[in-house]
Amino acid sequence: MMLDKAKELLTEVEAFNSENAEEIESFRIKYLSKKGGIVTELFKDFKNVPNEQKKEYGQILNQLKNTVTDKVSFLKQNLKSKDDVKIGLDLTLPGDSFENGSRHPISIVRNEISEIFMRLGFTISEGPEIEDDLHVFSALNFPPEHPARDMQDTFFIEKNPDILLRTHTSSVQVRVMDKQKPPIRTISPGRVFRNEAISARAHCIFHQIEGLYIDENVSFADLKQTLEYFAEEFFGKGTRIRLRPSYFPFTEPSAEVDVSCSLCGGKGCNVCKYTGWLEILGCGMVDPNVLESNNIDSEKYTGFAFGMGIERIAMLKYGIKDLRLFFENDLRFLKQFQG
Ligand code: DAH
Repeated sequence: MMLDKAKELLTEVEAFNSENAEEIESFRIKYLSKKGGIVTELFKDFKNVPNEQKKEYGQILNQLKNTVTDKVSFLKQNLKSKDDVKIGLDLTLPGDSFENGSRHPISIVRNEISEIFMRLGFTISEGPEIEDDLHVFSALNFPPEHPARDMQDTFFIEKNPDILLRTHTSSVQVRVMDKQKPPIRTISPGRVFRNEAISARAHCIFHQIEGLYIDENVSFADLKQTLEYFAEEFFGKGTRIRLRPSYFPFTEPSAEVDVSCSLCGGKGCNVCKYTGWLEILGCGMVDPNVLESNNIDSEKYTGFAFGMGIERIAMLKYGIKDLRLFFENDLRFLKQFQG
């Protein structure tokens, strides 16, 4: 009699099926609950079973208990994988977010410098990165034996040494003078190449902005005024500039320009090496030889030119100590220039 009841329960348990979590839980409670669960109660009554039936009955009871336990865990597992599938198809879930990109610091600084000069009426002009000797050197009054033509600085095309990667954006001056007649007022941002060992302070690829202003009666005072305006706009009000005599083949006279250190205000710190000044560019009055080789009447016209390295200016602006960071495209670095 008890044996039959147990076998009946076994069939019932084996037949049970559900895809509902609550139903599965009440099924578990109905059979296995410590208080009043069917299987639990049957085990409690086991002592009343006649001795000769104990063995067979005990086996059935164990089988019943295991079947309930297995059933519950199987149905729960089944439910979980169904949920997983559902999650995969849930169109109401929030989508994966895209990260916003940000401008490269070199682009930010290039744009900022360009905008300052555009306010003064300068246009933007560009030229090729692969150039020839004429545009990079000859038309800019480089004497044939000038060290800048040396193989150590310039990347030449081996088969044709007349073709080379431009070492400065001054080459764009020549291209502009070729096409335009004065008045000329233009800046030329771009990439330049030099055969140098890569270090924290030098790279074989970097960026420059070249400036050129040619008209009647352009004087050194105009150059100074323009650079003073640029320095205050870029580095902040109160920034002073200082010009030191220098030499470039394409300008006469030539100067190197320092700005008062924006970090210490000129008092002296480790960025300006306790001088209070930071070198930012080279400049000068366009050499009459350059005007003449580009078919501009040097009796009628004068002009000034300047050239600056964008990486150097960006390093000063952001306090970056290693130039290589600009080329590695490490997101941890680039993300700091968002906004
Ligand atoms: N081309 C020079 C260089 O790469 C920079 C320069 C100096 C440009 C003086 C100029 C200038 O236009 O007048 O170092």
